[in-house]
Amino acid sequence: MTPDYQAILQTIYAEVRPLLSQGRVASYIPQLSTIDPQQFGMAIYCLDGTTYAIGDAEKKFSLQSITKLFALALAFSREGDSIWARVGREPSGNPFNSLVQIEYEKGKPRNPFINAGALVISDILSSRFVQSDIAVLQFARMISGQANVDFDPAVAESERATAHRNYAIAHLMKDFGNLHNPVDLVIDSYCRQCSITMTCTELAQAGSFLAQHGTIPWNDTSILDPSSAKRLNALMLTCGTYDAAGDFAYRVGLPAKSGVGGGILALVPGELAVAVWSPGLDATGNSLAGTYALERFTTLTARSIF
Ligand code: DON
Repeated sequence: MTPDYQAILQTIYAEVRPLLSQGRVASYIPQLSTIDPQQFGMAIYCLDGTTYAIGDAEKKFSLQSITKLFALALAFSREGDSIWARVGREPSGNPFNSLVQIEYEKGKPRNPFINAGALVISDILSSRFVQSDIAVLQFARMISGQANVDFDPAVAESERATAHRNYAIAHLMKDFGNLHNPVDLVIDSYCRQCSITMTCTELAQAGSFLAQHGTIPWNDTSILDPSSAKRLNALMLTCGTYDAAGDFAYRVGLPAKSGVGGGILALVPGELAVAVWSPGLDATGNSLAGTYALERFTTLTARSIF
């Protein structure tokens, strides 16, 4: 039986209110520190096209690391398994912007969702497309069905001007020979890619192809074959929420990808995509209220992959 999703969203909206003041907005990207942390939105896109939304679900927010999922899907669809020669598929157990493993694992990042891995994916896309950030933007427009999806230039510039850690990671990987394009070019493209904004409604729609085994549900465009879509879902489950991936799987039980803008995209394969946004983060860089909202979502709907 289909749950009453709108009623469940209303319940969750009431339950998360006390949490909205507990998280902290990302401040290492100065432009993101100006966001009001009290906001909360959530949207569901069912594969039959039905949608549900609550709260600030129509407000644009900075996708940040959620774009790593789009970049990976694009790179995997074009380059196939060859990408795994340059980036691994294991949880890192370290913060998303950590440098330590790069040194002792000789320039090969643990997975494509930590910053190091996403920089390698940007590098792979930079070798294939004239501008990798534009390629990811066009891909985001296609999978969301929204031609108005765009970069936020102020966020991109704010991140680029303070990207010392990502420069350090990129230079270290360049030294190990795992970055083929100039560091400045890769960082510029990566920062613009991370600045893409969407609403929860748009994000849930953008993720729906991954819930439908690689095919966009509303126009039957095949983005990935079902086996590749299964593999990306698996990576989201094991690596999509960084060093909190184990706890997130325990609490929520869905493949998901988070970003420091406070968004999380989660998938119920074969059924729906759900996007949540609340800018206050926990210590691991995942939305505090967003994670709780998804935990309640899978509990109240009895929908999880387990
Ligand atoms: O590179 C960074 O640090 C950001 N552009 C993205 C980090 C991020 O979203 C991690 N998410 N939880």
